[in-house]
Amino acid sequence: MLTELRLFFILPDIFYSRVPCYLYSLSGCQLTVVITSEFPMSIALIIPDRKLDDLCQQLQHALPDTRIEIWPELNEPADVEFAVVWKQPFGCLNGLVNLKAIQCFGAGVDAILADPTLPDLPVSRIVDPALTEAMVRYLDGVVSYYRLQLDVFSRQQQQALWRPKSPRKLRQLTILGLGELGSAAARHFTQRGYQVSGWARSAKSLPGVQCFAGDEQLSPAVAAADVIICLLPLTPATDNRLGQHFFQLLKPGAIFINVARGAIVDETALLLALQHGPLAAACLDVFRQEPLPADSPLWQQPALLITPHVSAVTNVSSVVSQIAENYRRSQQGLNLINPVNRVKGY
Ligand code: GLV
Repeated sequence: MLTELRLFFILPDIFYSRVPCYLYSLSGCQLTVVITSEFPMSIALIIPDRKLDDLCQQLQHALPDTRIEIWPELNEPADVEFAVVWKQPFGCLNGLVNLKAIQCFGAGVDAILADPTLPDLPVSRIVDPALTEAMVRYLDGVVSYYRLQLDVFSRQQQQALWRPKSPRKLRQLTILGLGELGSAAARHFTQRGYQVSGWARSAKSLPGVQCFAGDEQLSPAVAAADVIICLLPLTPATDNRLGQHFFQLLKPGAIFINVARGAIVDETALLLALQHGPLAAACLDVFRQEPLPADSPLWQQPALLITPHVSAVTNVSSVVSQIAENYRRSQQGLNLINPVNRVKGY
């Protein structure tokens, strides 16, 4: 028997938060009519400088009963219970007094945690097989680029030089950072026949990978590496961690790749290591300042391959379900999936 009839009134946005639920019980009758505003609480997408139509549409499809709003056009900040965030302006989450959880729109949460006024709420991040696969493919391509000496041929082409060379012998590869992406990269290159070492803050164990941990083991982790790939999280402990001292640990002819965060690397020290050794080449996908300013000396360094932070970009279609799931969990007071440890910073 029908005991409840729920009527949704579609009201102009301005009324959403102002119209409380009206409950009418019709005496002598089992029928209850609930008249409520549509979508009383909301999700805010706080992702400046990006077109968000697709994310908005797909999230709305996954959560048809929830209002999705794009910051800074929030009808009523007090309605926001969940925020999907990427590089938010500091302080902007503070006005959201009913916020329950923060969902990072990417894998790395450094830009969120850097906000000194960040509310003390659960933060989760994206862990997505498609993102991991994109990163592994990018790294495979870059390592192949150097193995085939395409960097050298590209420079030769600019001088109309015809000088054949056989591939570089790249055998030893060290991955700095053995989290989700680092361990996937380690697995991939192990399967491709490379001798892979890994270095992380705490001890790790990965099949076929020689694992090192802690500051004192950085030197043995990288000493024999032909290629060093940085996949560390950016935290206060890794900010500017790879500087002059680090580059001096590398063997002559080594190749350095950074796909983590630009601020982990001292860019001046990197340039010196390319000009005077030991580095033969480097590839940077991430920079302390993005977009990389046109007057940065990095653009002028011929042994440096620059890509504009494209190694692994969040794919809306493949992450929308985990964002929706975290929204539901936050509504039910459950732990989020892919939670971030705010003390560790990742
Ligand atoms: C990209 O940089 C990410 O953290 O997802």
